[in-house]
Amino acid sequence: MAGTSFETLAVHAGRDGLAALGVHAPPIDLSTTNPLPDLEHGGDSYESMATGGRPLSDGGFVYARLWNPTVARFEEALAALEGAEAAVAFASGMAATTAAVLATTALTSKHHVVAVRPLYGGTDHLLASGLLGTETTFCAETDVAAHLRPNTGLVVIESPANPTVELVDIAAVVAQAGGVPVLVDNTFATPVLQNPLASGATMSLHSATKYLGGHGDVVAGVIACSEDAARGLRQVRALTGAVLHPLAGYLLHRGLTTLPIRVRTQQESACRIAHWLGEQPDVLTVFYPGLDGDPRGLLTRQMRGTGAMIAIRLQGGYEAARRMTSAVRVFTHAVSLGGVDSLIEHPAALTHRPVTADARPRDDLVRLSVGLENVDDLIADLASALEASR
Ligand SMILES: Cc1ncc(COP(=O)(O)O)c(C=O)c1O
Repeated sequence: MAGTSFETLAVHAGRDGLAALGVHAPPIDLSTTNPLPDLEHGGDSYESMATGGRPLSDGGFVYARLWNPTVARFEEALAALEGAEAAVAFASGMAATTAAVLATTALTSKHHVVAVRPLYGGTDHLLASGLLGTETTFCAETDVAAHLRPNTGLVVIESPANPTVELVDIAAVVAQAGGVPVLVDNTFATPVLQNPLASGATMSLHSATKYLGGHGDVVAGVIACSEDAARGLRQVRALTGAVLHPLAGYLLHRGLTTLPIRVRTQQESACRIAHWLGEQPDVLTVFYPGLDGDPRGLLTRQMRGTGAMIAIRLQGGYEAARRMTSAVRVFTHAVSLGGVDSLIEHPAALTHRPVTADARPRDDLVRLSVGLENVDDLIADLASALEASR
């Protein structure tokens, strides 16, 4: 495809062959089953996909739980934006995490995971529960090597991490992991600001529900990785029935076209809001990358920006958080993040509620997802909500 700059890929990747079909927008293929060319070719294509491969060109997609052409177009586009060989899309971010864990543990008989906190509450809960037959050791990012075992199948990190937007040194963790696959949750950064595979990670995971979809109307997950890693993920996806729905695949593919412009505009507003929050007496601490400078050089080494997620600790504690979240009028008091509209939530009570008490976010912490509204309107809304929080 002509033009390989990020913005051009965001608009054009995954759209090959449309002119030959006589269409301009990618078609949405809702078929649950596909007419087979003949028994042998159909059967061979089925076998290929059920074991993690691609459909055979002369055998077709066979059955929609195995794969889908509309989803495949989105995956091709996301892989291009992540600089990856492949991407595998799932029905949710949690389905993607589940597949990553199963592909690197159950499929390899290595049932130990090392994970660096903080993580999204659902991810933390899934790993801590042992539901997938794994035992997880949670540790600081500098202690990963010390906690590896012969049966460690996966290292899990999130950067920037939910909810405190802390950065993890991806390359340093990869070096410590010594060949154990490293999964990076790249949801907060998006491929606009960070490509974890370039820092040596094995998989870059997104809750596509957030920035990739961008409009609060799709639940989805996706993992960018090598074709080899994708085979294991596709195999788990086919067997567990976790494939993304084609309508969601279409919306996500469309969402990618505006991803760079959305993320950069939201980031510009978030940067202004973070600095403004830092001057407010009701605010004890502001968590936003770069506010403390860039002591480890991560903003230049592994990122291309600071993103649009902010967390704050309030002087007035939980009561102030309760009043503030009820007082907003332009922000919406709701979980989720990364959409065109601004959201505010209390992680300890909501997104991180299932996290064990010793690792749960503080009661005075509030998380903001900055959207595309006028930044002065957002600041005015936060100012009156802070006033109401007293
Ligand atoms: C950083 C992060 N990773 C993963 C997930 C899970 O994604 P989903 O809700 O799409 O299953 C979330 C959800 O909030 C998240 O914030």
